[in-house]
Amino acid sequence: MSGCQIDPNTIRPIRFFNGQCQMLDQRLLPAEEIWLDYRDYLGVAEAIRSMVVRGAPAIGVAAAIGAWFGARDIETESSEEFFTEFEKICAVLAATRPTAVNLFWALARMKSFARANLDRSVMELKIGLEYEALAITQEDEQLCIKLGRQGQRLLPDGARVLTHCNAGALATAGYGTALGVVRAAVAAGKQISVIADETRPFLQGSRLTAWELQKDKIPVTLICDNMAGYLMSKGEIDCVIVGADRIAANGDVANKIGTYTVAILAKEHNIPFYVAAPISTIDLSLADGSQIPIEERSTHEITHLKEIQLAPEGIAVRNPAFDVTPNRLVTAIITERGVVEGDYLAGLAEVAGR
Ligand code: MRU
Repeated sequence: MSGCQIDPNTIRPIRFFNGQCQMLDQRLLPAEEIWLDYRDYLGVAEAIRSMVVRGAPAIGVAAAIGAWFGARDIETESSEEFFTEFEKICAVLAATRPTAVNLFWALARMKSFARANLDRSVMELKIGLEYEALAITQEDEQLCIKLGRQGQRLLPDGARVLTHCNAGALATAGYGTALGVVRAAVAAGKQISVIADETRPFLQGSRLTAWELQKDKIPVTLICDNMAGYLMSKGEIDCVIVGADRIAANGDVANKIGTYTVAILAKEHNIPFYVAAPISTIDLSLADGSQIPIEERSTHEITHLKEIQLAPEGIAVRNPAFDVTPNRLVTAIITERGVVEGDYLAGLAEVAGR
């Protein structure tokens, strides 16, 4: 990709060079900034499952690196045997989290590279797959910068922007999607402030969004999830921007649990509700959001805050980690190839099919 600059100071949750991979343990932020080393695909799979690394694009990047680790360690001279083993490794990585389609997108890209090069030696396949994982990593940050530039035009100077969860640098290879739009607006000279929902139960808003915006010196105010309606009714929010884990062909959007509630509140208060996501988050194979698999996570995330018990022993608990916002509540979907609004079926097919 041309015309994009990489800021060396940007936050990047995954370091991948010289065959080494480190990930910032997002479970410990903001209290501790600990980098963990990864050397094999099973370790990367566990990092995705346990949310050391999280956020749809970052999960895709991690999966690609994990797939390469797995490929590197396959012991055979036969390309056909190599591919059979590689598919098994990709299946293990694919079973880590179900909702973010970027995971499956990245693994499909790695597999399709291997499949297309089966006439090469195993050594060449391994080298090629390392380059493919590197390309997925570098492209992700560059397309976030492009996406940010596309979306920043929607933000007026002085805008007070509500966001839910973390769709920032920490959720991508760098720069972010929803927060990439905010960063691009700030870079364009606009005064922008962010209101961050804390995002129960994993607290991506208070722990991650607040942390990275504060580091970037972008004004940010933290609220509990149940305060957004009040602030909207007081005229203190001008627009909402969130990321996405999967967008169906008709523009229905799966994102962090609570996003749907925010979208309804925005509709009630006539506030634009924007979704910022790369093309790799669009799943044209699903007609609508009802077909998106929704991850159910451990009940411990609800009943406990770390080891502090917050609810009675044995209480019945639900913990769906995502919800689906119907397309009628979405004002526009911002991608690196342009902003789609109105007819999502045609518009998403156009940007994603290009
Ligand atoms: O469970 P998480 O933290 O992986 O969920 C992340 C989100 O829901 C993000 O909003 C989404 O992945 C977009 S990230 C650019």
